[in-house]
Amino acid sequence: TTESAADAIRRRIRTIPDFPKPGIQFRDITTLLLDPEGLRFAVEQMVASVEGPIDLVAGIEARGFVFAPAVALALGAGVLLVRKDGKLPGATIAEDYALEYGTDRITIHADACTPGARVLLVDDLIATGGTARAAVRLLRKAGATVTQAAFVIDLPDLGGADALRGDGITVRSLVAYE
Ligand code: PRP
Ligand code: ADE
Repeated sequence: TTESAADAIRRRIRTIPDFPKPGIQFRDITTLLLDPEGLRFAVEQMVASVEGPIDLVAGIEARGFVFAPAVALALGAGVLLVRKDGKLPGATIAEDYALEYGTDRITIHADACTPGARVLLVDDLIATGGTARAAVRLLRKAGATVTQAAFVIDLPDLGGADALRGDGITVRSLVAYE
């Protein structure tokens, strides 16, 4: 039997119970990243899911930063860093959001993209969608055209991917954990 693409990714992701809080099943991509085939396969599949030209790949700190440059190089796009508050040196715009655990604020440089730039959003995982939806609001506020997002992992029970679809985004992920 031939292993499916999803299974090839899934078996390289480790689940750690009760991190960072009791009840959270933490889906750990560090084991996927350690495996050269896992890393290559994940990036290739994220790239293959993209439709049409992309000018910039927006990666979300911190784990989105691992995948965004690899995807951007393959697409011939640049990288736009979506950072946690207080990290970017220039003038920023910000959005607040709720996490599966805690709250946070993300920022981008106010001049990070030219109006109409076609931006692909990339992160390792979508859970409640709070982070990704805040990133889309932020990028649109900056004038970007954001219609696609790619994740390694979707936690569909938490509803984030569906909420992001409601925001007009085509959402793709490589594996889902119920
Ligand atoms: C994780 C993950 C996503 C986000 C998903 O990042 O990498 O960015 O949570 O959750 P959501 O869909 O409920 O918003 P985290 O905030 O833990 O930061 P890190 O990458 O710095 O560990
Ligand atoms: N970010 C939000 N929820 C997560 C989870 N269950 N595992 C890993 N990262 C996450």
